[in-house]
Amino acid sequence: MIVDRIDEIISKYKNEEGVLIQLLLDIQREFSWIPKKAIKRISDTLKIPVSQIYRVASFYTALNLTKRGRHLIRVCVGTACYVRGGPRILDSIERILGVKDGETTSDEKFTLETVNCLGCCALGPVIEVDGQYHGKLSSANVEKIISGYS
Ligand code: FES
Repeated sequence: MIVDRIDEIISKYKNEEGVLIQLLLDIQREFSWIPKKAIKRISDTLKIPVSQIYRVASFYTALNLTKRGRHLIRVCVGTACYVRGGPRILDSIERILGVKDGETTSDEKFTLETVNCLGCCALGPVIEVDGQYHGKLSSANVEKIISGYS
């Protein structure tokens, strides 16, 4: 159960000072994001005000307060990818997954995001899935790539 797992993670940090960021990172590693329930449990157990936890979690861009899927798809919409069909790739992925930029599928499998450059413009159009790059894409092969992630 989610609360049991949250409590298990928090218990590693009981009686320690200055552990909030590390604890939040651990929670995120487990759930791909930081659920409200986890913030409440941290607050109750470690006696840290909820507002302080939110302040810290909001400050660090590496910490996600919105639900994330198990897989993160980042679609490049930077200029080099844009002129090579990036928007069509984004449309295809949105259609396949049934979500828009910034959203997570209802089965929590995928989160879709756009970025302005992935640093490999010559491969455009490019997407990145869980850190793995897929370049020179066409709408036709996008579906095959996505179906490869369980
Ligand atoms: S513009 Fe897409 S990788 Fe640079």
